[in-house]
Amino acid sequence: MKTVTVESLRSMKQSGERISCLTAYDYSFASLLDRVGVDIIMVGDSLGMVMQGHDSTLPVSLKDMIYHSRCVAQGRSRALQVVDLSFGSYQESPESALRSASRLMSKGGAQVVKLEGGAVMAETVAFLVARGIPVCGHLGLTPQSVHQLSGYRVQGKDDASAATLATDALALEQAGASLIVLEAVPAELARTISESLRIPTIGIGAGVHCDGQVLVLQDMLGLYPRPSPKFSKNFMQGQDGIEAAVQAYVDAVRSGSFPGSEHSF
Ligand code: KIV
Repeated sequence: MKTVTVESLRSMKQSGERISCLTAYDYSFASLLDRVGVDIIMVGDSLGMVMQGHDSTLPVSLKDMIYHSRCVAQGRSRALQVVDLSFGSYQESPESALRSASRLMSKGGAQVVKLEGGAVMAETVAFLVARGIPVCGHLGLTPQSVHQLSGYRVQGKDDASAATLATDALALEQAGASLIVLEAVPAELARTISESLRIPTIGIGAGVHCDGQVLVLQDMLGLYPRPSPKFSKNFMQGQDGIEAAVQAYVDAVRSGSFPGSEHSF
């Protein structure tokens, strides 16, 4: 199977082929996801919750991200590895983002770095891209801003915030981002944004019209002991093992049968 690159993701968008993405934080799960054919393995700072037991992503350090990214890199060969910049490791300046991103890539094996925020981060995105670092944006419910957002809530519900999100997405694309995660936004807004961009959108709680989908692995395997978000689905149900559950997820994303309306806003 051909390796996944930012260029092949863009071709997938052009040909209408949906992109599958799951999080992973270690060697064994990364190997399994890669073997099954997941296109993107995302080393998310959701590891703060599912690996470390915190109630937010804020305590996760860049060192934690590098450690887990390095473990994932050992198991991946085909999938593209997208890794979160941790809270506080990139917001101060484009230079601080470059320092953190280059550590994630050189020490952690990241192939794309992900950061949260819209137009306000465009200068940083352009700075990284001009220096050879592919960037994934993250809009909508941006978990590192949980306190500013007053909780984990659906974003872009009114006209003004929907327009801001659409403008933010264009600003990230113009700055050179390779893809954008849209989290917890109404399905129709995600559709409008996805259709307005040339780069792929990867939705989580953003409806079926994104170019791809991502879920947190522990949620979709039913392993996380706390309640999972409404937009997640337990793919272990009806399957006889983890590999079969991941395959069912990839098939459901590719066919467009996930997410259904019950997993969307
Ligand atoms: O932290 C994470 O795992 C993420 C994805 C769920 C999008 O940001």
